[in-house]
Amino acid sequence: SSYNVQDYLRSHIRTVPNWPAPGVQFRDITPLLQNPKVFRVLIDAFVHRYMDPHLRPDVVAGLDARGFIVGSVLAYELNVGFVPVRKKGKLPFTTVEETYELEYGSATVELHTDAVKQGDRVLLVGDLIATGGTMLAGKRLLEKLGATVMEGAAIVDLPELGGSQRLRDSGLALFTLVDFA
Ligand code: PRP
Ligand code: ADE
Repeated sequence: SSYNVQDYLRSHIRTVPNWPAPGVQFRDITPLLQNPKVFRVLIDAFVHRYMDPHLRPDVVAGLDARGFIVGSVLAYELNVGFVPVRKKGKLPFTTVEETYELEYGSATVELHTDAVKQGDRVLLVGDLIATGGTMLAGKRLLEKLGATVMEGAAIVDLPELGGSQRLRDSGLALFTLVDFA
């Protein structure tokens, strides 16, 4: 019988209707993290790709907050450093910041000014791409510091929300494991 990583991972993501707002189908990755076999399949899929000498980054940057879970383990396995892109007001040192539009209102993310060096090749990791706004803001922060974002990676893509297309249109290569139409 054939075994497909995308289907296996998808079967361990829980859909919660009407959360956090009416009409939203929330894709909950906590069951995927909770099961050690599934968690390993997930991490190994990323490790396998980014161990390739052509794709191995200098640094992994993770998007607050669920992007930290995958990004930090991946950085550890690749033996590279991890830097957090945080929601505003959490980082203690000097920062660069980027504000972006949400469905309602706006959000600001920050990055320490010494998080990456000019010329660093960075892998930017999130858990999920919806409108793509969070990942695009992270990319802009890293680029403000002179780094190159070689690729964006996430567990889930929601292609109907247009974010992955928007990110690719902005010149960012993307790698995601599970689509939800
Ligand atoms: C969620 C998710 C992504 C982002 C995707 O984060 O974890 O980071 O939204 O949406 P976008 O592509 O439209 O930007 P959320 O702000 O809910 O925070 P959390 O990770 O702290 O739960
Ligand atoms: N972040 C933005 N939209 C989301 C969704 N539908 N499920 C989980 N996380 C999200």
